[in-house]
Amino acid sequence: MTQTPVAAGRTVLVTGAGRRLGRTIALDLAAAGWQVAVHYRASEAEAQQTVADCAAAAAASGGGRHAAFACDLADEAATRALLPAVEAALGPVSAVVNNASLFEHDGAQDFGYAAMERHWRSNTGAPIVLAQVLHQRLTARGAGPRSGVVVNLLDQKLWNPNPDFLSYTLSKAALEAANTLLAQALAPLLRVVGVAPGLTLTSHLLSDEAFAAAHRLSPLGRSSTPEDVAGAVRFALENQSLTGTTLLVDGGQHLMKFERDFSMMGTPT
Ligand SMILES: NC(=O)c1ccc[n+]([C@@H]2O[C@H](COP(=O)([O-])OP(=O)(O)OC[C@H]3O[C@@H](n4cnc5c(N)ncnc54)[C@H](OP(=O)(O)O)[C@@H]3O)[C@@H](O)[C@H]2O)c1
Repeated sequence: MTQTPVAAGRTVLVTGAGRRLGRTIALDLAAAGWQVAVHYRASEAEAQQTVADCAAAAAASGGGRHAAFACDLADEAATRALLPAVEAALGPVSAVVNNASLFEHDGAQDFGYAAMERHWRSNTGAPIVLAQVLHQRLTARGAGPRSGVVVNLLDQKLWNPNPDFLSYTLSKAALEAANTLLAQALAPLLRVVGVAPGLTLTSHLLSDEAFAAAHRLSPLGRSSTPEDVAGAVRFALENQSLTGTTLLVDGGQHLMKFERDFSMMGTPT
């Protein structure tokens, strides 16, 4: 953990922040004066690097403390213990960015309860439990209206559906519904906002050329960059009138129709 002055009232837990989009979100928030709790499951070395890089990014905005926290979000008890552990180390938390996500392929032909449950635990259950625990802790310390905020990472494919990654897509569709329901249930203390990226980072299923081509497939000629998504997350965290809504940050990909998931383009049906 780095030990520098604390930025009061601006401590955020970013899940899955060791790598990829979560790391960019964590660095962007640290540069904007947030203290960042960097959550990880398996990527410990990467999470510690994100912590060090958050400290460097925060230097110009007054420092703050940043630290890494391990948790398997598929484990309900461990997920319930995560925010108390963060608060014990960094002080009161006011925001959670639910970025971590399981993304395993299945479809209508090979769907089963095991894949469904894995995706729902990590992608739906954990974000709801973290919102619930944040609300409980804000209530316990007598916090006022709009003192907390939860940002849920969704996906443009909810508005532009295809049946690839069936369990993943269902888990994100449920999270999108929870985004509305939690905004209703947890107001006025807590705001709940969705951010839905388009294709932003490649996967092991795509060649560099296929990723670049898919990234261009949008009305604006390019989908989202990690920096676009991080900027939208920061806007959602800081804009006091947003709740129960989703920012689609995707170059307009949700306005189009794709028969396959980007990761499966070029794959026989
Ligand atoms: N990448 C894109 O182009 C894209 C497009 C649309 C939407 N999104 C959404 O944006 C978010 C970030 O995308 P991404 O591609 O950066 O995500 P990712 O690489 O697929 O996953 C992010 C992290 O989630 C963590 N994770 C997965 N299951 C977990 C569990 N059970 N417990 C704890 N951590 C778990 C992993 O952490 P460890 O490595 O520490 O295990 C992983 O590094 C996701 O919510 C995704 O659905 C991304």
